Amino acid sequence: MATVETKNFLEDIAYEKVKNLLHETIGLNFSCYRDEYLKRRLSIRLRATGTYTFSKYLGYLKKNPIEFNNILNDLTINFTTFFRDRDVYDYLEKRVLPVLFNSKEVAIWSAGCATGEEPYSLAILVHKVLGDQLPNYKVTIYASDIDEDALTKAQKGEYTKKQLCDVEDSLIKEYFSHEYTTYRIKDFVKQLVRFEKHDLMKPPLHNNLDLILCRNVMIFFARESQQHVHMHFYNALREGGYLVTGKSEILSGEPCAKFLCIDVNCRVYQKPSKDSSPTSEYRLGVAQVDTLSLNNLTGGQGTIVRR
Ligand SMILES: C[S@@+](CC[C@H](N)C(=O)[O-])C[C@H]1O[C@@H](n2cnc3c(N)ncnc32)[C@H](O)[C@@H]1O
Repeated sequence: MATVETKNFLEDIAYEKVKNLLHETIGLNFSCYRDEYLKRRLSIRLRATGTYTFSKYLGYLKKNPIEFNNILNDLTINFTTFFRDRDVYDYLEKRVLPVLFNSKEVAIWSAGCATGEEPYSLAILVHKVLGDQLPNYKVTIYASDIDEDALTKAQKGEYTKKQLCDVEDSLIKEYFSHEYTTYRIKDFVKQLVRFEKHDLMKPPLHNNLDLILCRNVMIFFARESQQHVHMHFYNALREGGYLVTGKSEILSGEPCAKFLCIDVNCRVYQKPSKDSSPTSEYRLGVAQVDTLSLNNLTGGQGTIVRR
């Protein structure tokens, strides 16, 4: 009879085989996810399929290829809302977009956009800031996700009233057309957004970007994969461009050393330009208590505070 150790060993091997099969079949590198997260999510599928062990699940996957879709749906949790973390959007509206619009051509990337609420919130913000001046600017908001179903919904741009609960009535009136229970994003905002399928582990599709938002995506990724993706972002940004991460995320390793953190609370980072010196517009310092803890967590990250 197999001992507990042997059983665990065989299960570990079967788990690795499941990961490899997923990589070969769907093309998604599942080793970018944290093992504890992946195992927790996969265990839902083990229960749903009645297999209960990775060894049996491996056989099930080979016989039922439709199961690959179920895994993808389970792994890529699409939860999102319009204007998620309102203070981040306030910061973008007041501190970032006005700076970006010193240039007539602006490129933004919403990476891991799920069902489109984030890029459409950005498009509304862009319209709010530029108003009648919008036709004088070329603004593109690239919005990408790995999940095709989510992208199809995003492209439709149709939402229920419940999904708009975080949007003020005045904005709903201005930016959505309304038919029965469906609220459709109006074309003049929709046309600012370009959706595309993209796996964040692969090199970015665009460069020279002014602003990248990648929020609440990296939380599922292993630390090395997070650093890999954040370095992709660093390279895809122009000098002086901004990166916004999710509120529960922090930069670590090389990206942490390369980016300047310009707002700890909203998790806004900037790719420094060659001639920017921390003593001119910004100074290095410890602003608040949460800054201190962030510095400790990230291994001594310098925080930039506007004078
Ligand atoms: C929780 S949603 C975040 C949506 C939005 N950014 C927000 O903060 O509300 C996470 C999204 O990341 C996407 N995602 C997960 N892994 C990905 C990958 N490797 N490449 C691209 N997108 C990924 C999921 O499909 C999902 O739509």
